[in-house]
Amino acid sequence: MTSPDRALDPEALKLFSFNVFSQLSGAVTAGMIHIGDQLGLYRILAASDGLTSNGIAQAAHLSERWVREWCANQVAARIVTAGYSYEAHEAAGHIDENTTYKLTPEAVAVLANEEHPAFGMGMFHRLPATFDRLKDLPESFRTGVGFDYDAHGPDGAVGIERSFEPWSNAFLIDLVLPTLTGVIDKLRTGISVVDIGCGAGSAVLLMAKQFPKSTFVGIDISEHALARAAEKLVQSGLSNVNFMNAKTSDLPKSSSIDFVTTFDCIHDMTYPRKMIADIYRMLKEDGSWLLVDIKAGNTLQENVSKNPMAALMYGISVLSCMASALSDHNGEGLGTLGFPSLLAEDFARQAGFSSFQQLDIAHSVNAFYEIRK
Ligand SMILES: C[S@@+](CC[C@H](N)C(=O)[O-])C[C@H]1O[C@@H](n2cnc3c(N)ncnc32)[C@H](O)[C@@H]1O
Repeated sequence: MTSPDRALDPEALKLFSFNVFSQLSGAVTAGMIHIGDQLGLYRILAASDGLTSNGIAQAAHLSERWVREWCANQVAARIVTAGYSYEAHEAAGHIDENTTYKLTPEAVAVLANEEHPAFGMGMFHRLPATFDRLKDLPESFRTGVGFDYDAHGPDGAVGIERSFEPWSNAFLIDLVLPTLTGVIDKLRTGISVVDIGCGAGSAVLLMAKQFPKSTFVGIDISEHALARAAEKLVQSGLSNVNFMNAKTSDLPKSSSIDFVTTFDCIHDMTYPRKMIADIYRMLKEDGSWLLVDIKAGNTLQENVSKNPMAALMYGISVLSCMASALSDHNGEGLGTLGFPSLLAEDFARQAGFSSFQQLDIAHSVNAFYEIRK
């Protein structure tokens, strides 16, 4: 050990330890949030005016003692609110069993309402599968080679679907598409659309339902995501959508596509420059590309000072995004915060695009660009 440049400060030690264990507290509570989502506990609370642990346990067909301890974690983490019923306490004589638990309207939106754009359970859905990859990471750190999205299993794909679908359902058609030059009119008339890195196909299916005269292809390399997309396609009954695996099928022919979309996936790709060149090639002269990717600063300092979620994002990058972008030996390895607007514009112009415009769309995590030849 090298000698430190100052003596250990006992107060700073306490604060430092507190910071480190706060991270563990977040990780453990994240696991409890996953359980609450998986067992339907938030949905039960959302449908009630407040329930005791016994009430929640009965509604969910679970053991009360386990539910009560889970509730204690949720109250301590300020996720669920606790109230105390004097009458119930008098009747039973035990405060903890007669505490009532409730969700605020904001908690309902984030934890229980799958229709709300702020619904946030997708990332927690995929948490166990994502953390399971900690087993592989030491080897990845040694070899430099990561793993693609299929390494997170079917639940990884469903977690991604549940992460992105609520916002997309709420805003893609009415807010995002109208900001693009002429795209809505063309979609109504009937054009060829490709969504690359389509995941479970939520955006493709949403657009295909809204614009029945247009034809849509969703492209991905994840078997799990494409299996989920195929399932959703059957459920939708739509006949203007196809899904394909870019590992086994050729990308669309040159100058054959009017509109390309990519949602949160270019930074995950092993060869993003090649994909952008392919997008340029497949687009018609008057075609356009809607690029949606993570809003990032150009430096670590900028991300850390401006983005309160920077630690989460750099960690997810190691576990998922950068791991995917390095799933091949020569992968570019951009990662979650690795595709800021300056780089996106540089890659687009190198591929031949002459117009690159950031769209004025407010989103907590993503930036939106309209890119044309
Ligand atoms: C974060 S997910 C986003 C999925 C989807 N766009 C959504 O918004 O739900 C990134 C997706 O990119 C896919 N992907 C990574 N590299 C790819 C490539 N070279 N070609 C097509 N898809 C790719 C992954 O398999 C994964 O489904």
